[in-house]
Amino acid sequence: MRHKIITLLLSSTLSLSAPVLAAPSSESPAPEEIAPVLIGADAIDIWTHAQPHVARVTHISLDLDVDFTAQNVGGKAVLDLWTAPGAQQIILDSENLAISSITDDKGRALPFAIGASDPRLGAPVTVTLNGAKRIIIHYRSAAGASALQWLPPAMTAGKSKPYLFSQGQAIHNRSWVPTQDSPGIRQTWDAKLTVPADLVAVMSAEKLSGDKGERLKDGRRRFAFKMDKAVPPYLIAFAVGDLHFQSLGPRSGVWAEAEMLQASAYEFADIEAMIDAASALYGPYRWGRYDMLVLPPAFPYGGMENPMLTFLTPTLITGDRSNTDVVAHELAHSWSGNLVTNATWSDGWLNEGFTTYFENRIMEALYGKERAALYTDLDWDDMSRVIAANGGQTGPKTRLNGTPGDGLVDYTKGSNFLRMLEVKLGRARWDAYLKSYFDRYAFQPQTTAGFLADLRQQVLQNDPALELSLQLDRWAYGAGLPDNAVHVKSSTLAAVDQQLAAFAAGGPASAVNVKGWNTQQWQRFLNGLPRQLPAARLAELDNALHLSTSNNAYARSAWLQLAINNRYDAALPSLRQFTTSVGRGLFIKPLFTGLMAQGDWGKAIAADLFREARPTYHPSVANSVEAIIAGEE
Ligand code: BES
Ligand code: ZN
Repeated sequence: MRHKIITLLLSSTLSLSAPVLAAPSSESPAPEEIAPVLIGADAIDIWTHAQPHVARVTHISLDLDVDFTAQNVGGKAVLDLWTAPGAQQIILDSENLAISSITDDKGRALPFAIGASDPRLGAPVTVTLNGAKRIIIHYRSAAGASALQWLPPAMTAGKSKPYLFSQGQAIHNRSWVPTQDSPGIRQTWDAKLTVPADLVAVMSAEKLSGDKGERLKDGRRRFAFKMDKAVPPYLIAFAVGDLHFQSLGPRSGVWAEAEMLQASAYEFADIEAMIDAASALYGPYRWGRYDMLVLPPAFPYGGMENPMLTFLTPTLITGDRSNTDVVAHELAHSWSGNLVTNATWSDGWLNEGFTTYFENRIMEALYGKERAALYTDLDWDDMSRVIAANGGQTGPKTRLNGTPGDGLVDYTKGSNFLRMLEVKLGRARWDAYLKSYFDRYAFQPQTTAGFLADLRQQVLQNDPALELSLQLDRWAYGAGLPDNAVHVKSSTLAAVDQQLAAFAAGGPASAVNVKGWNTQQWQRFLNGLPRQLPAARLAELDNALHLSTSNNAYARSAWLQLAINNRYDAALPSLRQFTTSVGRGLFIKPLFTGLMAQGDWGKAIAADLFREARPTYHPSVANSVEAIIAGEE
């Protein structure tokens, strides 16, 4: 392996504008082999205190116990370091960690200082190394750690045992792991988790202990894991609960509470075929197993691509397999995101836009063009809405690259960028390029500029006509939507549009034929209804289509948005029930935003609902809703 060791940067050791440095491409580099590689001057991570060109974490070894009574995790973290010649200290990220000691591997105390805490970034922990290449930290997480959600038994399916999970993306893992929490600083890791006797721990890594762990003398259970591929630290994740496993194939399976296991296994039965399709498209699946964990409804996301163990919301389980686009999405992150990673969160579209595109190719490979078009067409609707809401063709927040704007731009405009490339270059050429891209940048960070330079070098090769027709810079750096975007349309949704037109023309709600509708048809219908409707028409819809009692969370959320928009009081019990039992931000945040837009009527309801719902939300969703209610979002 060849490494570029950057020494010229070391003179300016502690300058704030340190470039992010990348680990070289390798599946499991030995710590001493890792030397930083400069990946581009634009890759400055402003969400970390780390100075990776001075000293960087290469491996983390955790030995933690989980205390459900005190609601904290803690124990020991052993960090292996790469240090530049002459480096005196390492800076770690932390959020309210209670650190009791830091020593070298001989047990000699190392001086450390915890700096002022930034409300978003947390506090830097500066450790004087005295030549150490390995440091040992004893610590505990604080109450309210932003990565962790502690669920009382009532918020689980089984209702009898507590549950705990972590959510690291984007910068939350510093609330339970003392490390350099930047996506450009890849680290291998291993962990031991000690949990109460009747619970099971799982992690985003290879499991070294049996399904029931190892029983300790004091009755608790200890589980061991290892991740020997260098990952960005936001991908370290765990969950503890009354968990059971069902195999779905040779390299896949699903974890869930017993009550959810059968339905989960049914919903995600196609996972092996998805892995095959994804590998056939863009290169081998490099992570060994692909398991899924179905969490309680408080889980704040649709899915989270934790390596080897995707975390999923139970709201996907509608019994008709119509939301497995989310599984395809999290699986696709095994390439875009987990293998080739946004160097900083300003390049988030390299994770989410690539993944949304790739997800759709997996859906097409398994279920055909029309099924894939369902999702693409709805994404187009979302994109049009988000661009319009953020200033249209000139709105700065509609840009892909730069300060993170509305996340939906990354997903929808990002995936449409790649779809345009597919259409303009032709599938064969585009697919070959993308496959080689994932291979050549495997286990490395990437920037927008890096991707464009690579595409130009590998594909455009100074072809001026091609350069002109693709408008690469306009897509990557410009506002709004370039005019070469490709709108894929779904005939299934066009049929829904006809029913919408009939209803809008005054037709009765009872004439709307919803028989066999999947999530996407419901979404098109409910989001396509006139935004202003009289109470009588809303009542008619609710009576005919049973929207207020729908068990499909996508449909329910879309209906409640419409109801809020019309100050439709009859839907309030349904709104209360929904916002206090589901924690998925995608569904919950628009409801609060909608309420806040409805003057005193909505503001009073929002405040009241939030008081009740807040303890059921993950800290990240709770904070977002709080900001919405405070008028900051
Ligand atoms: N990585 C994201 C979840 C995420 C995004 C966590 C930003 C923290 C910050 C995940 O892959 C994702 O995109 N989830 C989506 C589902 C997807 C199909 C649109 C979600 O949660 O809805
Ligand atoms: Zn994603």
